[in-house]
Amino acid sequence: STTTTPFPEGFLWGGATAANQIEGAYREGGKGLSVQDVMPRGIVAPRTAEPTPDNLKLEGIDFYHRYADDIALFAEMGFGVYRFSIAWSRIFPNGDDTEPNEEGLAFYDRVLDELEKHGIEPLVTISHYETPLNLAEKYDGWTSRELISFYERYARTLFERYGSRVKYWLTFNEINSLLHAPFMSGGINTPKDELTDAQLYQAMHHELVASARATRIAREVAPDAQVGCMVLSMPIYPLTPAPADAVAVMDADHANLVYGDVHTRGRYPGYFLRTLREKGIELDITDQDREDLLNTVDFVSFSYYMSIAETADPAKKTAGKGNIMGGVPNPTLEASEWGWQIDPVGLRLVLNQFWDRWQKPLFIVENGLGAKDRLVEVDGVKTVVDDYRIAYLNDHLVQVGEALEDGVTVLGYTSWGCIDIVSASTAQLSKRYGFIYVDRNDDGSGSLERYRKKSFDWYAEVIRTNGATL
Ligand code: BG6
Repeated sequence: STTTTPFPEGFLWGGATAANQIEGAYREGGKGLSVQDVMPRGIVAPRTAEPTPDNLKLEGIDFYHRYADDIALFAEMGFGVYRFSIAWSRIFPNGDDTEPNEEGLAFYDRVLDELEKHGIEPLVTISHYETPLNLAEKYDGWTSRELISFYERYARTLFERYGSRVKYWLTFNEINSLLHAPFMSGGINTPKDELTDAQLYQAMHHELVASARATRIAREVAPDAQVGCMVLSMPIYPLTPAPADAVAVMDADHANLVYGDVHTRGRYPGYFLRTLREKGIELDITDQDREDLLNTVDFVSFSYYMSIAETADPAKKTAGKGNIMGGVPNPTLEASEWGWQIDPVGLRLVLNQFWDRWQKPLFIVENGLGAKDRLVEVDGVKTVVDDYRIAYLNDHLVQVGEALEDGVTVLGYTSWGCIDIVSASTAQLSKRYGFIYVDRNDDGSGSLERYRKKSFDWYAEVIRTNGATL
């Protein structure tokens, strides 16, 4: 550790969550069902017909009732920003309603009141893997063009209601996960193996247009708002120095980067048009769509957990585990208990890549280690000695410092699951990311009490010194 810091004054330190992973109260306050209410196993198993009692998200960590205490704990760590999402089905219970649900809107007013009380800047995700279930069942989610207008109405409602209180907005969480997890990410009810590429790319186009339209609406309704896109970042290394492997990396990169390219440039890049051509896909893109897409984002935000390798050699193309998309395992890296390969340097690479490519301010809105924790007693106080989590976060933040030295503009950092939450991919509570331990287990048992982990004090010190203690 040093006494100087590469982090600029005003750098926004904080944490991030999503409504469906924390709120619970899945039927309270007029909320409608979302796709998550029928995903008791995350993306590991198919959806259920109805919400089932084994679905931990139905109660989550009860943030719906405990938000004030939880936000007070965030404030105790010195958070300057808190990223959370608004549950679409709290505001429009069926997604296609014409009038919003006032009780849902009032809940987020109360959340914003608490944040304001503590001087914490909100960073709001408009859509985080929680499409109203009705839109999935009635319209097959984002495969349908009609979703654009439903999303527009929803976004406009949020900008009108909260636009004077919320500066930073994200349109779609990890928009590039759509092709990998169509039900969770795009509310697409048709099973993945029955979907055509044409349907998936059309859904992608609808989301990109919806995002751009929301950006345009924000400019009218909430002129101080900063609208960002949100992508799942995944640095990809060639498995060998063979040129064919480098091409495989380029192709895999393109498949991921096209979303950010459209969000920042307002049009589809040539390599993507080639993909469509070669697949024989003709997308339905109207002149109005093309005009809408020109409403580009103010900043680019992203999640970062891991990197992968890629190869052109089918014999070496083994499938590793990973954050929704997975990839070829990199033999030089260690992995988490869930098989996600740990690579702090990858974060510096991705920051540089995005900055060089898009020249937009960046916001790291997810990063962290999902790990099993053990609640112990130290000096009569219940805690978790999570040195592994501290090491992970410290190593990653050191690389953020390197990227800042490289000249990259980074607005802030919100670590993922700053309080333990239900995991997205596996719907477990035992996959914990938090600085705050929540007493709830995979079988649903537990008191829901909160306990500060060792990383709680560590992060508070990082924030207090603006990164000088890293
Ligand atoms: C991202 C999502 O993919 O990764 C989050 O935006 C998710 O919603 C996070 O929780 C970590 O993944 P998981 O599966 O460990 O919860």
